[in-house]
Amino acid sequence: QKLDIELAAIEKGGFDHFMLKEVFEQPQTILDSLRGRLDAKKGTLTIGGIRDHLSQLAGAKRIIIVACGTSWHAGLVAEYMIEELCRIPVEVEYASEFRYRNPVVGEGDVIIAVSQSGETADTLVAIEAAKKKGATILGVCNVVGSSIARISDAGAYTHAGPEIGVASTKAFTAQLAVLCLIGLKVAMEKGSITEQRFQHLLDELDHIPEKVAAALQLNEQIKEIAAKYKDARDFLYLGRGYNFPVALEGALKLKEISYIHAEGYPAAEMKHGPIALVDENLPVVFVATRDSYYEKVVSNIQEIKARKGKVIAVVTEGDLTIPAMADDVITVPEADELVAPIVSVIPLQLLAYHVGVLKGYDVDKPRNLAKSVTVE
Ligand code: AGP
Repeated sequence: QKLDIELAAIEKGGFDHFMLKEVFEQPQTILDSLRGRLDAKKGTLTIGGIRDHLSQLAGAKRIIIVACGTSWHAGLVAEYMIEELCRIPVEVEYASEFRYRNPVVGEGDVIIAVSQSGETADTLVAIEAAKKKGATILGVCNVVGSSIARISDAGAYTHAGPEIGVASTKAFTAQLAVLCLIGLKVAMEKGSITEQRFQHLLDELDHIPEKVAAALQLNEQIKEIAAKYKDARDFLYLGRGYNFPVALEGALKLKEISYIHAEGYPAAEMKHGPIALVDENLPVVFVATRDSYYEKVVSNIQEIKARKGKVIAVVTEGDLTIPAMADDVITVPEADELVAPIVSVIPLQLLAYHVGVLKGYDVDKPRNLAKSVTVE
């Protein structure tokens, strides 16, 4: 029994939980997802797994992304990326909804199935049905040889390594990196972005691992913030644009491992009802890094403060405006908005982890949850 405990400790690499180990592995796992594909110095990008489908992707009338949970959030980020880079309409579908509404899909449609385990029944069944209707399936999976990977016509593995914690962390950031590579590759094939923007984004991605490492240095500060808000009954997570899916992901992480009700929302949508929830007992996490939505997010923060909400803001280093308004500030390195979600999600992963631990829960095996939902 003692040996088992020691073995488990070794597997956790000295971390208290697999989840924390996996959060801290992300600079390396993001590098692994880029390895052999991105060479920023040479300005080259190769994704062998989609080479034979590149022209079909570039010529697609629309792309449908099918996934569940955290992978669905990665799909939402990819929607913004691919629409911006490739000017191809993207629809992001919950696999379980898509499957059962007799989807309008067929020849010429490209479906990207995003799945860490590659065994999620809702996603697997959805793409089997779409394939029967003639759609082309690309898989973005983390487990080599998994069912979804095997049924896909092509795809790209995320190479994040085995993810043990039920709450997905390193798989999510690896999904974002790979989906960004796919968007860039298709955009160059289409000629929908300039060489200059292509090179800029290759450089941005190249620097992401070090920016994630910098964000991980916030661990102790985030532990203090977690202690301050761990007894809240509800949380709101707000963001706009690329940071809206990050807000959803932050809320899911908190729900999964601390069992506190948390809801992600587009920040501007608050005025259409949910702002009635805001009072001095409601922590509101803003993913408010500097991007093209920044000014609007500042006014959304003012709306929350005017109603006595407690604001925890993830901001870009050097921001002086939001820290003057927020109750707690988490500062992350600057990054192009298209890749910034890979960095801005890090503090939200750590916040959820520390709240869960402070509440005494098993953050690696949260109640009622399985690592891979292989039943429909
Ligand atoms: C995320 O933290 C959850 N574990 C869950 O939502 C998960 O993302 C979802 O079940 C999809 O799993 P998959 O990526 O393996 O398909």
